[in-house]
Amino acid sequence: MMALIAVCSAKGSPGVTTTALALALRWPRRVLLAECDPAGGDLAAGFLREVALDGRGLDRLTSTLARRPLTTNTLWNELVDLAPDGDSARTKLLLPGLADPAQAATWGEPQRTGQAAGWDQLAAQLPMIRDGAEEYDVIADCGRLAAAHPATPLITKADLVLLVLRPTLISARAASAALQHLLQPGRPPVALVTIGDGSYRTKELALELRTPVAAALPDDTRSADALSQGSTPRHGRLLRAAGRVEPAIRRICEEDGLPAASPAVLGRRRVAEEAGVVH
Ligand SMILES: Nc1ncnc2c1ncn2[C@@H]1O[C@H](COP(=O)(O)OP(=O)(O)OP(=O)(O)O)[C@@H](O)[C@H]1O
Ligand SMILES: [Mg+2]
Repeated sequence: MMALIAVCSAKGSPGVTTTALALALRWPRRVLLAECDPAGGDLAAGFLREVALDGRGLDRLTSTLARRPLTTNTLWNELVDLAPDGDSARTKLLLPGLADPAQAATWGEPQRTGQAAGWDQLAAQLPMIRDGAEEYDVIADCGRLAAAHPATPLITKADLVLLVLRPTLISARAASAALQHLLQPGRPPVALVTIGDGSYRTKELALELRTPVAAALPDDTRSADALSQGSTPRHGRLLRAAGRVEPAIRRICEEDGLPAASPAVLGRRRVAEEAGVVH
């Protein structure tokens, strides 16, 4: 189905990183989780804090970018395995985000090499990542939207934007303002992901914001904390609900006449003949 899914929030709705991670962990196909939040990535110090990343990620690409255009090969070398245990090896990859948010601005500027801005190059290259013949859906954590959002190319070039929000009046107002910018002609479709309970029920929110709700994730502090701190809660409510998001997205796309989903095919685990991905 779609190759690039941008996950973001408007003001007042934390949960983007946790939601993107839960989606990736329960995604039914090969998936690449890209930490593209201009404010910085959290997984190196959180979910993957036990793992030596050896400086992999966007930080190292910042210096590469100044010298030459991004290629899928350079990108591949910055990826780490998100869930290397057992059969899941190399089916879930992570591009660690910026440790220094000051670098986000550099990514927004046209490069000296004459290439497009870094975020544009990243948006173009991420969906091209392959392991042999195996393709990856990309879930990009784009963080909180701002008036001048440096990572905008990822959102405009996405196949679908997921807007994370709480079903409260305050969050809905902020989301409504954000949607006015997101839902412009030529921009990708948007679906909502709600977290927890609030004054709106799911259907009311969809009607009010004129945007389909792909999922209503539970307020599940235990699972969310475990995800933030690096232990995977195998059976938590949050992960169970996250596992239902991809089919819901597929339904929304089909109802909207958007590109149809391809069958969920998980390639057989390939022997690690390429040394680019480590744990
Ligand atoms: N479904 C959930 N249930 C309970 N708590 C949650 C849930 N999702 C996220 N949280 C909690 O909310 C807090 C913020 O989550 P997270 O880091 O995912 O937000 P964010 O939008 O990425 O924030 P930031 O702007 O800092 O990157 C964390 O403490 C996290 O554990
Ligand atoms: Mg975050």
